[in-house]
This record gives sequence, structure tokens and C-alpha cells, in this order.
Amino acid sequence: MTTYKQLFENNKKWVASMKAKDANFFEKLAKDQTPEYLYIGCSDSRVPANEIMGLDPGEVFVHRNVANIVATVDLNVMSVINYAVAHLHVKHIIVCGHYNCGGVKAAMMPKDMGILNPWLRNIRDVYRLHFDELSKIKNEDKRYKRLVELNVQEQAINVIKTSIVQKSYNANKYPQVHGWVFDLKTGMLKDLKLNFTEALKNIKKIYDLTGESFNAN
Ligand code: CO
Repeated sequence: MTTYKQLFENNKKWVASMKAKDANFFEKLAKDQTPEYLYIGCSDSRVPANEIMGLDPGEVFVHRNVANIVATVDLNVMSVINYAVAHLHVKHIIVCGHYNCGGVKAAMMPKDMGILNPWLRNIRDVYRLHFDELSKIKNEDKRYKRLVELNVQEQAINVIKTSIVQKSYNANKYPQVHGWVFDLKTGMLKDLKLNFTEALKNIKKIYDLTGESFNAN
């Protein structure tokens, strides 16, 4: 176990190793950030955003919360999405869940979780939306895994429901929104291969906030 004091020792070693690779690394880092990606993932300590994608500081804008939820009344995630799209002009938004997610597991249990209830309600709503599919999966572990995937899919769709993403896509053809799942047992990322333009077209029947006609090409 790393002690609290060791964290600062680790920091010094990290600075030295980054400087060894590139003497001007921190000068460049301090100038500006131009990340191509916004990553929205789970707070789980086992899923470090930069590391699993092999990205350095400055390369990905990150938002993490319990079970990678994109809730429309969450000022935090909505501010992150707005800033990333309107000011950083990110080209891709990735919603990344993970198997063995404690938040998703908790939302499958008939239990009072206190202050977590309204947060986990977002996942219970995903369950209700996909009840027919999920109720056919008799194996509980498989059902749990599928709910992790469906939660990623629905939270990615919630990203597409925002006016900033719709407007930017109409004007620039970016950002593209993706749904991924990280497998703790293998370390591998799985692309759920969401059809972004199809999802955008579908949600615009109800959630169009641009007042512009949709052009998929
Ligand atoms: Co999690």
C-alpha cells in the first residue's frame, strides 16, 4: 500500500521521468490544452482514463462519476460537455462503463441506498427501458453485464440529446459519440459500436433542440 507521504515522492519521480522523455514537457503543458477527446467514465479506481487509452496529460478531457451517468439535471456533467464541445472543440465523446461496476450492481438490488437513490434511479430507468431484453436473460451475471452495456448506450444517447452536441454536429460533423466498456478481467476496451448518426436521427424525433433540419451526410 502506498502511504500518503509517498505520493509526493511518486510525484517527484514522475516529473523526472516526464522531463527525461521531453525536457520541455511542462512548459508545453502549461501553454494550453487541445484534447481531441472527452471521456466520461466511472469513478472506480480500477479504470484510469488516461492509462487505459495510452494517452498523456493534455490529450483527453475527463469527467468521472459513479456509474458514468449523463443526467440532464447534473450541472457538473452538462458543464463539462458544453465546455469540451464549445471551447475545446473535441472530435470524439466517449462514454466508458466497465463490467463489475458497483453502481450498476447496486441499482439491480431492492435496497434503500440513501442519497445514492436518485443517482442510481438513472440506471433503474435504463433497466425499465430495456426490461423485455433484460428479463429474458436468466443468468444474473450475464444480465448484470448487459445492463452495464445498456447503461453506456443510454448515457451516450443522453450526450446526443444535448443542444451543444446537436448544434456542433450540424455545423462541423463533430463530435462523434461512442460507447465503450472496459473489462477489468482482461484490461481490454470493447467498442459497443453505437451507430451515432442513426441514434442522432432517432432522438431528433423528440429531442431536437436545434430548430434545424437534420442532415446525416
Ligand atoms: Co463503476
